[in-house]
Amino acid sequence: MVRQWKRVWEARKWMKQNEGFLPTWHAYLGYRLNFFDELQQNGTVGAHVKDRELLENWIQTGLILGHLKKKGDKVYPSSQMKQYFSKSSDVAIGDLLVEMMELHIPSLMDYAPVLKGETPRRTFDGDEHGTAVATTSSFIEQISYRAVKKVVSEIGCETILDIGCGNAGYIRRLAEEFPHKEFVGIDLNKAVVEDAKRNTKDLSNVRIEQQDLREWDNEGKTFKCIMMHNLLHYFSPVERMELMKNIEGLLDKDGGISLITPLYLSEHGQEFSAAFNNFLSVHENLHRLPTAEDVEVLAAAIGRKVTSLKPIVKEGGWYSIVIK
Ligand SMILES: C[S@@+](CC[C@H](N)C(=O)[O-])C[C@H]1O[C@@H](n2cnc3c(N)ncnc32)[C@H](O)[C@@H]1O
Repeated sequence: MVRQWKRVWEARKWMKQNEGFLPTWHAYLGYRLNFFDELQQNGTVGAHVKDRELLENWIQTGLILGHLKKKGDKVYPSSQMKQYFSKSSDVAIGDLLVEMMELHIPSLMDYAPVLKGETPRRTFDGDEHGTAVATTSSFIEQISYRAVKKVVSEIGCETILDIGCGNAGYIRRLAEEFPHKEFVGIDLNKAVVEDAKRNTKDLSNVRIEQQDLREWDNEGKTFKCIMMHNLLHYFSPVERMELMKNIEGLLDKDGGISLITPLYLSEHGQEFSAAFNNFLSVHENLHRLPTAEDVEVLAAAIGRKVTSLKPIVKEGGWYSIVIK
């Protein structure tokens, strides 16, 4: 009898634990389908929506969660939803939920068929998801920028290369602050490179190129500082050794590398990095996160050392690392 009650208690605990998913799902859908913007403008939503019952359910849920407010027969988004989940807002964070719901969760759900050998590992489609990933990486950039600026200042470089520069968030800010330094950003994704070029079009000290680092020939020119932020998981542990060899050829003897990456099994953010690691590993073209020891081995492979390793987003296990 006691065992059966304990069973119910345990079931209740797991059900309650899942309640937190509801606001995420609701905000995601409202952002994805532009409902919050539409509600803000018209007090009503979805004249074009085919399934009215599902729409009614979404509105009801929004009212229950406080994401939506009723005024007479009109419905409006709460100020929180308006600010953070409207596409028209300049502080929107909806892309983070899109990435989680459309990329991370489906990947984790693929574990069973992949583990059983029923399907091969997934392939990460950079064309489909590259822009969203670059956007969400920019949240980390916001937090880590000061650390990166300090590293770049300490290395004392005049020319800086950003490998896998994404939408050029770091380059743009650094180039504005250091107009006398030269910046080169490379990224293999076409759409991301177009964004990067757009974001830096007014900066004469920035050059952005669509290049795959593995094939890039910079005609023997080297850099005193190389930034490599959130890039390592695009390379397998074996390929990372090759990557370091490429970097060796691009880095001045007295130069340094600014590395930003989540570290697996580090002191901080173990749960987040475990989740991220699971997501990465189920793809044939994304790879497990490095550990702190892995980074030391990579540095040693080109005769360098890790000279600094500091957490920047503790709950996510994200670190700013300097290799010299
Ligand atoms: C997660 S994003 C990070 C963007 C930016 N560095 C940041 O931290 O905000 C990683 C970027 O690396 C690029 N990338 C991956 N492999 C690459 C390679 N072999 N050569 C150049 N860029 C690469 C991807 O296209 C992607 O835009």
